[in-house]
Order: sequence, then structure tokens, then C-alpha cells
Amino acid sequence: MKFGVLTGGGDCPGLNPAIRAVVCRAAKFGHETVGFLDGWKGVRDDLSRPLAVADVADLLGKGGTILGSSRTNPFAKEADATKVLETLAHHHLDALVVIGGDDTLSAARELHRRGGHVVGVPKTMDNDVGGTDWTFGFHSATAVAVDALERLRDTAGSHHRAIVLEVMGRHAGWVALATGLAGGADATLVPEEKYDEAALFEHVRAAVRARGCALVVVSEGIDLGPRRGSAGAKDEFGHELLREREVGSELARRIQEGTGVETRSAQIGHIQRGGPAVLFDRILATRLGAYAVDLAIAGRFGEVAVLRGATVTGIPLEEALGKPKTVTPDWLDLLHTFDA
Ligand code: F6P
Repeated sequence: MKFGVLTGGGDCPGLNPAIRAVVCRAAKFGHETVGFLDGWKGVRDDLSRPLAVADVADLLGKGGTILGSSRTNPFAKEADATKVLETLAHHHLDALVVIGGDDTLSAARELHRRGGHVVGVPKTMDNDVGGTDWTFGFHSATAVAVDALERLRDTAGSHHRAIVLEVMGRHAGWVALATGLAGGADATLVPEEKYDEAALFEHVRAAVRARGCALVVVSEGIDLGPRRGSAGAKDEFGHELLREREVGSELARRIQEGTGVETRSAQIGHIQRGGPAVLFDRILATRLGAYAVDLAIAGRFGEVAVLRGATVTGIPLEEALGKPKTVTPDWLDLLHTFDA
């Protein structure tokens, strides 16, 4: 067989280990792999490179993606969709492995609907793809955010301040939730809950009374009411660029004004997405990449490799893309046990 592989959407730790797994698993059964560059753009514009086992041998500890990525939507225009099908035919591909989040995988679903032989691998630091317990990238990105919170704790303590840490995660609060839980925030704000300013001020005051400082984690996706800055810019899939709303600095301003506690904010942005994958993500990426090849060999096109409990299995792309996975009430209940 001849395999194609691409990585699309925002990069995250684990992409390179997943590419390695695809190439090595295919090679184990005597199949060859070609890598498309910069996500769906590479398929649309026929930009590729051959990938031999030697090309991927040293990828386990490498962040980013050697194939490059983009947020290209190849089905936004019918002319581009035709180019995608032409590229696949030109390479005589038997299967395309698409590694991506909701948007990239929704293009895979569209290709499958048009008869393309495609299988999916879910990834994203947001952990918001449905049908899988975890996506790789999440544990690595959140470890960076926890490290940032611990550093901010030192400065907050020294200066008797409140500090707000804004983390990514889009409209799912998983990154904020895990950062708040693992880093010991005094209050954590996620998009799944309505913003309650009075409760927030009370948590800050209580933390300052108890320890002389306060740490607040906020997800970029929360709704603080009227927007600021250059908000409104959208990507090719129609998603707003949330970090431009700067909810962290807006919250810091409100906290200082509302509580009288000197407050600062930090937005760590793409620092969360760089660097090598942690153990959990390396193993998950390796398992899912290899399993996607197995799905294709078995002719199970239109499926995506997912983690359910401790088991890797395949489910229809349709099922994974049905509904984004957001933070559930049991997690929120646990989170608020530790509010100041
Ligand atoms: O989907 C991953 C993610 O990092 C989101 O958490 C964030 O909103 C978005 O990508 C940022 O996108 P970009 O890299 O295009 O600025």
C-alpha cells in the first residue's frame, strides 16, 4: 500500500511521534509513506516529501511537526476540493492518515464522504475532540501552564499581589481546569461556567487574607461581556482568534479595581504548544498513529483512532465530530473544592 500523512491545525507536542508511528507501522508491513506539507494545503497544492523510517528515527523528543501545519480548509471552495482528489490520484495513494483536531478531521470526513480513503488521528492541546478520553498535546501543554503558575506563585507571594494566568483551550476549559487543579489556583474560570464576578472577588480576598497573595487561572474562551482589542478576527474555519480578546489582562484590571489588591496578568499563549511531548503524549501519539495504519490496512476508512479507558480503538469520524468535548460537572465540582 501507499500511505499519505498530514498534520493540520495548531501544532502540539506529540505530532512528530505520531508521524513516526505512522511511517514505522506502515513500513513494518512493507508499505511506503509520503508526507504532505503544511496540513491540507500540501494536499491541495500537491506539496509532499517521501518519508522513510530513517527520516523519522529521531522524532520522539522533537516538538512541532516536521511536516508543517496550517489551518487550510480544502473544502471551502469546490475548485480546491477537486485539486485534493487530483493529488491523491496522482500519488496513487491507498490511504491518507489525517492527524488533526476538529477542523482538520472535519475535512477528512468530507473527503471520506466524497469517496476518499482516509483515517484520522485526533490531536490538540485543547483536549476537546469528542469520542476519545484524551488527545495528545494536552498533557504536555498543560504541564507548561502548571510550571508557569508555580513561577507566578513566587512573584505573587513576594509582592503580595494577585496574578491572573490566561491559558489556551478555545471553548473547552480542560487546560484551565487541569492547570488550576494541578497548580493550586485560588480560582479557576472556564467557559463552561457563567462568569461570576462577585464570587471571583471573594476568592481573591480570601486568598489574600489567608496567604497574602492570590492566583487566578482563566481560560481564553470565557465570556466577560463586551469585547476589547482587535477581537473578531477569524481563521479559515470561521473560529475567532480568542487570545486577541485578552481576557486575562481585562480580569486583572477588574480584580484590582474591585478588590483593591494589586493585580498583574500573564498570557503564555503559544509557549504552551512548543517543546517535546511528555511521556503520556508520546505513548498516546505512538499508539494512535500505529492504530490508524491498522485501521487503513483493515479497510476501515472513515474511522478515527481513539483512546477509551486504557484501550485504543476505532470509531467513525462522524461520531468523534458530533459534539466538542467540554468539561463535565463532576470535574467542576472537584475543581471548586479547592477555591480559596
Ligand atoms: O487549538 C489549539 C489552540 O492553541 C487554541 O487553544 C487556541 O485558541 C488556538 O489554537 C490559537 O491558534 P493560533 O495558533 O492560530 O493562534
